[in-house]
Amino acid sequence: MKKISTLAVLLLALPSAWAAGEDTYAEFKAMMDRSFKTTGIAPKHRMYQLDFQKACSQEEQPAKAEIARIEAEQMKTIRYPADGKYFGDWKQGEKIALSGRGLTWTDKTPHDNGGGCYNCHQMSRHEVSYGTIGPSLLEYATVRGTNEESIKYTWGKIYNAKAFNACSNMPRNGDAEILTEQQMKHLMAFLFDPASPVNKK
Ligand code: HEC
Repeated sequence: MKKISTLAVLLLALPSAWAAGEDTYAEFKAMMDRSFKTTGIAPKHRMYQLDFQKACSQEEQPAKAEIARIEAEQMKTIRYPADGKYFGDWKQGEKIALSGRGLTWTDKTPHDNGGGCYNCHQMSRHEVSYGTIGPSLLEYATVRGTNEESIKYTWGKIYNAKAFNACSNMPRNGDAEILTEQQMKHLMAFLFDPASPVNKK
């Protein structure tokens, strides 16, 4: 009997809790709309969750079919380099990977920011400090290989990680215009060049 009444209370309370959640978000959005304006390279729309991000922020992960739908949708956002060249300068790439500088509104161009890759990945043996949210990328060229498939996959992963894992923690560097095409080419060289510290034993 006690079990039944607890369940009944829960069932009655849930819809209003959901409704309150929606109201709270609407209130938050209205407050943000009043308080902030797009300034320089920091557009206001970046503060709001996209639909797929909302789906990934629920207590329960989206169902398999929904994950497949999100990934297919995100896959369509990936733009491969127009000139067919995937690699820049690995030394520039190392600087971008090390820099955690975000998209600050006072920056004159998006080129001042970094990729913050070390926040989540180990990338070279001489770096003592790195995050572990993402897998180690040491010896990336050997582990993943250097064929076309691997190169295109890696570009796509940097451009929009959600195309391969709907609720990935990795930022959508290209799709969200965090990094420029040139910055991503430098990072590609950092990951693949045999002279890069990523690939040194
Ligand atoms: C907030 C954490 C985070 C940041 C920042 C991040 N990544 Fe990731 N990355 C991940 C996670 C987690 C994975 C594992 C796959 C997944 O869940 O998407 C991953 C996977 C990858 C992979 C695929 C590895 C493989 O073998 O398949 C590459 C390549 C990669 N990241 C490169 C980068 C680069 C380059 C940067 C910087 C521009 C970066 N990541 C920034 C979290 C992050």
